[in-house]
Amino acid sequence: MERADGAGPLPPSLLTRGLSKSFGLTRALTGVDLRVDAGTVHALLGENGSGKSTLIKTLSGYHHPDPGGSVEVGGQPLQAGVASSAYDLGCRFVHQDLGLVDTCSVADNVALTTGFPTRCGAVRRKALRRRTEEALQRLGLALDPDTLVGGLAAAERTGVAVARALADADRTSVRLLVLDEPTATLPDTEVKQLLAVVRAVAASGVGVLYVTHHLDEVFEVADDVSVLRDGRKVVTTKARALTRRELVEHLVGGELEEVSAASDSLPTAHAAPVLRVQDLSAGPLVTANFTVRPGEVVGVAGLTGSGRETLLPAIFGAIPRSSGRVQIGDVILAPGRPDRAIAAGLTLLPADRVRLGGVMSMSARENLTLPALRALWRAPRLRRRLEVAQARTWFERLDVRPRGAVDAPLGSFSGGNQQKVLFGKWLRCAPRVLLLDEPTQGVDIGAKAEIHRQILSAVEAGAAAVVSSSDYDELVALCRRVMVLRDGRFVAELSNGALTVAEVAREALGSEDRAA
Ligand SMILES: Nc1ncnc2c1ncn2[C@@H]1O[C@H](COP(=O)(O)OP(=O)(O)OP(=O)(O)O)[C@@H](O)[C@H]1O
Ligand SMILES: [Mg+2]
Repeated sequence: MERADGAGPLPPSLLTRGLSKSFGLTRALTGVDLRVDAGTVHALLGENGSGKSTLIKTLSGYHHPDPGGSVEVGGQPLQAGVASSAYDLGCRFVHQDLGLVDTCSVADNVALTTGFPTRCGAVRRKALRRRTEEALQRLGLALDPDTLVGGLAAAERTGVAVARALADADRTSVRLLVLDEPTATLPDTEVKQLLAVVRAVAASGVGVLYVTHHLDEVFEVADDVSVLRDGRKVVTTKARALTRRELVEHLVGGELEEVSAASDSLPTAHAAPVLRVQDLSAGPLVTANFTVRPGEVVGVAGLTGSGRETLLPAIFGAIPRSSGRVQIGDVILAPGRPDRAIAAGLTLLPADRVRLGGVMSMSARENLTLPALRALWRAPRLRRRLEVAQARTWFERLDVRPRGAVDAPLGSFSGGNQQKVLFGKWLRCAPRVLLLDEPTQGVDIGAKAEIHRQILSAVEAGAAAVVSSSDYDELVALCRRVMVLRDGRFVAELSNGALTVAEVAREALGSEDRAA
């Protein structure tokens, strides 16, 4: 991109040379050279644990890089390990864990990074509200700026973090926007909106570094693509010069058949329903009625705000319901009692991994053990050897990396590997009904196929599964039937020939006009 004053090309938005980062003996990044040109979208890809988030946190000043490398933003040197340096040079970040403060309102979260507008020392609340509303509207979000962030759904939280990153883009010179898996829990339509915003931001001259596991997005939005493997950059190339197959080969370092789970292989379920949901309502969910039989995988689709985010937690009892009845086998579940739900054979993998899914400061082993404590308990102590052996087995089954690190804190694993641990934590309880909210969020393509296989084998063994996902491809591949929520009610149940990605998207939106 040329300078507006015609004085030649703009310096690159980001230029890293020999960037390395170690955690003790783990080398998370080794000598990475990366160049993001102004006005372009540069996709950064790599398997779980390949170093993407580490690279980003090193740019933002959260991590101090190893000596020897250098980073420039818009031609200016970045001071390593200094957060204000990145901000002052015009870098804006949406981190994988978003970094929002739950106990503050949406507006206050925006102000925390962009600054509070003040007059004579007093905060101008109205101006802050307006600024926040504008930032949200740019992304097509109609959220009240005064809502507490803690009460928002996973996709809404992502929206707030993106809006915040761009909130002051018109007042200051933003040069580099970095998004770490912003679409992990966003439904298709909202992904489209976000990609449109990303393109518009790039068109205004900003360089965008975009991390994702969704290959379709790469071809839709990226100009350039770089791939990391084991902390090293293995390739940078033009997106349009690349086929999907070549990209997958770069990612895994060899050939990989992208396996999509075939729920068609499951026999038709005839047993009596194991899960019965009657007239359930909670928050935006107006009413839900359905049953699921053992041996079935049922999908739930819907836009943010359709009630999709509330359905599974309300069934489980993790959030209050205003009315309705939930039954597992013969047991009628008391509302607001997840402990009883678990005892009856129900489990929930929540969409919000960081806040609700696991204890980040505890080891992966301890997280895996939590729901199975009773089985491992021989008074007066825990059967530690057995516990460690079982944790290792689960690491192998789900290909959690680093392999041997069962005792490392969960928070030190890459996002996708955290997700695998939490999935294992619930699967090991051999539940009768698995409620899975965004089960493969942030998980790379190889591990996604593995998680799908594990879901299907649990179901083949007689469990039932309800999968709520913003990834329509996943729903179509995994489920025999998909129920679509719109405005708090089920508006369609798709199966057989009618179960296609396009049809799910159409029903979720409501009409073809609105899809335009
Ligand atoms: N704070 C930390 N302490 C120790 N090791 C860490 C820490 N943060 C990251 N690592 C390690 O660095 C490596 C790279 O992790 P990183 O989070 O950068 O991966 P990623 O490419 O973002 O993966 P994902 O797609 O799963 O998000 C992993 O082996 C991870 O365990
Ligand atoms: Mg990551």
